[in-house]
Amino acid sequence: MTRVYRNSTEVGELHGFPVYMNDIVDACLAGKLNLFLQGDTGSGKTQLARDMMSYFPEKSLFILGRNDMDTRELFQQINPEFFDAVRKGKNIQGLEAKQLTDAVHYNLIVVDELPNCVPAVRAQLFNLFDGFIEINGKPYPIGNGYSVGIGTGNIGQQFTESSNELGRALKDRMHVILDVDYFFPKPSDTLEILASSTNPRVEFNTNENEGRQFIKENQELAEKPVSLEKLIIANYLLHGLDYCNQGQSKREMKSAWPNQVTAHGAGSDEALVLPASPRAAKSIIRLSQALDEIAKRKGATEEDIESGSLNSMMMAYKLVSAYSGILNEAMVQNVYNGNHYSALNAAITATKGEFDRNKDKIMAGLEMVKSMKRDDKTISRFAGRWKFMRNTLDYLLDKQKREEKK
Ligand SMILES: Nc1ncnc2c1ncn2[C@@H]1O[C@H](COP(=O)(O)OP(=O)(O)OP(=O)(O)O)[C@@H](O)[C@H]1O
Ligand SMILES: [Mg+2]
Repeated sequence: MTRVYRNSTEVGELHGFPVYMNDIVDACLAGKLNLFLQGDTGSGKTQLARDMMSYFPEKSLFILGRNDMDTRELFQQINPEFFDAVRKGKNIQGLEAKQLTDAVHYNLIVVDELPNCVPAVRAQLFNLFDGFIEINGKPYPIGNGYSVGIGTGNIGQQFTESSNELGRALKDRMHVILDVDYFFPKPSDTLEILASSTNPRVEFNTNENEGRQFIKENQELAEKPVSLEKLIIANYLLHGLDYCNQGQSKREMKSAWPNQVTAHGAGSDEALVLPASPRAAKSIIRLSQALDEIAKRKGATEEDIESGSLNSMMMAYKLVSAYSGILNEAMVQNVYNGNHYSALNAAITATKGEFDRNKDKIMAGLEMVKSMKRDDKTISRFAGRWKFMRNTLDYLLDKQKREEKK
């Protein structure tokens, strides 16, 4: 494995092993998750994206975002055959869908300096990130079932403003948003970087086999069943975190959240964080599974992974959600010095505390599901923000019974 990007700063620890920036990138490729690299100039974003392109030498597209690029030029870059046909006055209908999709075979699409693109171009780029291209109002899938989008850019503050059009679109399309400034390489890394090459241009390698490996891993991950524990953790992020003011729903409060949250005590997350969206919850599960595989390769055992579900899900939660717009921005600025990761860490500490305090109940609930005997007492123990467990357990019981009958 030859990678130019170097960074031995830990993004976190999982199942007893350190996780680095390169691991996160691998997890995104294996999980088929779009990644946005946000950060200051010269911090290696383009290099990291180039390293990822090296896995898909014939099947990656690099687009440099410029404000004078129009959709015509974008199409020219994506699909010259198609564009030439149009220019020569050929009927587009004459070009068959197969020809089109063959030409749009990219497994990886990198848009460097994405914020420089004008909105019309961005709209097409975001389609690409969603896995298709739209030509004359018709969507064509790209990458033969596997395509990942990488964006880079320094958008700083604007990013977090929910009214900002680019910010919103990015949060919608990018499954993982990493602020590389918080994980700056160690002095030993920068020495190595400076000593190995003083060429300030990004460097290029090719590792085609690894690209195929990522596609295979992705298929395996997609087929792997999600554990009950992870499903319950995801449901907590979706429903447990929706609870505030002793029974109100944050979602239903809409813009009254967080200002009208009154009943929260110290250390409470009620005014700090919104519940996860179903889409975010899916990304969290997928990323957590991909991270588990990486930890396994580093030496973690199946038991470590099984008993560390909460840690793995929380690491994925942090990476997916820090910049996804669920945090109370005023609190991030005023309480956490503008650091989204610190703010989300506080929410994670609160979540871990909740799971710890309710461990017995949750275990009893899971035992009940496994034994397939519904027990009112076990179910009614869940109250307050944990009330979602009643419906969750009943559903799991039913599902278990249905599967038994088959
Ligand atoms: N962590 C790193 N590992 C290896 N090389 C690095 C690293 N960080 C920076 N470099 C090198 O520094 C130079 C600048 O990096 P790069 O162009 O990737 O930065 P960038 O974050 O894309 O900056 P900009 O925001 O200005 O586009 C390149 O030569 C790159 O190879
Ligand atoms: Mg760059």
